[in-house]
Parts: sequence; structure tokens; C-alpha cells
Amino acid sequence: MSTVKRTWIVNGERWTLDVPPARRLLDALRQDLGLKGTKEGCGEGECGACTILLNGEPVVSCLVAAGQVPDGTEIMTIEGLEKTEGGRILQQAYIERGAAQCGFCIPGMIMSSYALLSKQRNPDDGTIREAHAGNICRCTGYEKIVEAVKLAADRWPAP
Ligand code: FES
Ligand code: FES
Repeated sequence: MSTVKRTWIVNGERWTLDVPPARRLLDALRQDLGLKGTKEGCGEGECGACTILLNGEPVVSCLVAAGQVPDGTEIMTIEGLEKTEGGRILQQAYIERGAAQCGFCIPGMIMSSYALLSKQRNPDDGTIREAHAGNICRCTGYEKIVEAVKLAADRWPAP
């Protein structure tokens, strides 16, 4: 199978790998780089479990082909996010508000939360719901997630 060489900045580290161009970015991250924090739910772009950040923008990695991701792209997964202050604030807020139950949706959900709060420090409820519209949670009913994001917003570090 033919491959392409790609060099990305993943969680702040430079990685070069040879990948089949059509390989899903989700698989490249989980299997080639061993970053298993990103989850696969539907595999069809519907659930948001596989959400990561590409150059700061949330995307579902099951729908992205590795060959489409240019050299130099900054990729952040939940493993990188938990090393950031914002990531730690979000995790703590999710715990305090009881927003994580089975936990399967949480890595993708928190990536969407982080993308939102990185751009908007005081989002209202509607904006929070909209920012997480692509992330499905079967357990929490979403209200606790909204409360967790609001708590994290109150604690968000100054720019
Ligand atoms: S696994 Fe990617 S959106 Fe569901
Ligand atoms: S906590 Fe179970 S799916 Fe969200």
C-alpha cells in the first residue's frame, strides 16, 4: 500500500510518520501514535467521541483522512489537553458538577469545551450548547455539562 510522509506537531511534539493517505486520522492517532484517549463511537461523524483540535479548531477525527492533514499542522488530543491549565480546569469542573458518568463521551466533549473557552471566556448557555452540538452524551442529559463549562469559564486563566 502506498504511503505519504507527514510531519505534525502533536500535543507539542514533532512527529513524522508514513501513513496511507486514506487512513483515518483517528486511527493514525490511536494506533500509530498510541494516543488512545481519543474514542471511537459511531465512526461516521455523528457522535463527537473522536473530537480533537486541528490548529485549535474542533474536528471529528474519524472523518479526516491523514493524507489531508498538511505538514506542520498542530494537533491536540485529550492527552495534550490535560497538560494545559485549561484542560485541568475543565476536568476538575466536570468532576465537581457530576458531568462525567460512563465517561465515554468525555474526551471529545472536553475538547469541544476547551475550543469554546479558548475563544470565548463567558459564553451563555445557548452558546455552550451550540459548541457541543456535535458531541452526543447518553448519560448526563447535558445540563451538568453546561454547568461544568460555566464553572470552568469562571476559573479560566487570564489571557
Ligand atoms: S466516532 Fe467520530 S464522530 Fe463518532
Ligand atoms: S458520560 Fe456517558 S456518554 Fe457521556
